[in-house]
Amino acid sequence: MTGTGEEFDRAFWEERYHGHGGHGGGRPNPQLVAEVAELPPGTALDAGCGAGADAIWLAARGWRVTAVDIAEAALDRARRHAADAAEEVAGRIEWVRADLTEWAPPERFDLVTTHYVHAAGSQDELVRTLAGLVAPGGTLLVVGHHHGDPSIASTHFTADEVAAVLDPDVWTVAVAESRTRPAPAGHGGTMHDTVLRGHRRPV
Ligand SMILES: C[S@@+](CC[C@H](N)C(=O)[O-])C[C@H]1O[C@@H](n2cnc3c(N)ncnc32)[C@H](O)[C@@H]1O
Repeated sequence: MTGTGEEFDRAFWEERYHGHGGHGGGRPNPQLVAEVAELPPGTALDAGCGAGADAIWLAARGWRVTAVDIAEAALDRARRHAADAAEEVAGRIEWVRADLTEWAPPERFDLVTTHYVHAAGSQDELVRTLAGLVAPGGTLLVVGHHHGDPSIASTHFTADEVAAVLDPDVWTVAVAESRTRPAPAGHGGTMHDTVLRGHRRPV
C-alpha cells in the first residue's frame, strides 16, 4: 500500500461533513454485516466512524462501541443519528474525536473495524496501528476501495497488501478478497471492496 496523500487531513474531512458530502450515514456497510453478524458481542472500535451507521448497527447487536473520527462534523452527524436509535443502543456508544494515527486508548478491543479510512500519510502504518489495538483473540476487519472502484485511485489497496502488514506469528487471516456491491443511492455503478478479516491469536 502507498500513502494516500496529505489532502486527507482533518480540514478535508471537516469540510466534507459540513457540506452535503460525508460518509457513513444510512445503512451499515454490507461487508461489516457479513463478517461480524456471527461474532459474539464485546468491545468494538469503529475507526473512522463517519456519520455513525456502522457503530449504531454494532451497538444494536450488543457491542460496546468506541467510535472514533478525526472530524467533529462527522461526529455531530453521528450523534444525531444515534439520537434516533433506542436509548440503550445509543448508550453503548462512546463518540471520540481523535486522529487515529496518534490516539492511544487505555485498552484493546475485541473487534477493530475500519471502513474506507484514508488518513494522511501511510496506509500501512494506519493498519499496523489499528492491528495493535486488537486484543488477543480479537478480530480486525479492514474494508477499503479495491482497484477498479469508482473512487480516488490513491485510496485503492488490496487485501493481500493489508495482510502483508500483519505479522503471521500473531495473525490468522480468515478472509482476504475483493467483492463487488451496488453503489449507494445517487452514486451509480458498482463498488469494488477490499475485505480483510483477521484474528489475533490468543496468548
Ligand atoms: C470515507 S469516510 C468513511 C466513513 C465510514 N467509515 C463509512 O464507511 O462510511 C473516512 C472517514 O475517516 C475519517 N478519518 C480520516 N482520517 C482519520 C484519522 N486520521 N483519524 C480518525 N478518523 C479519520 C474521516 O473523517 C471520515 O469520516
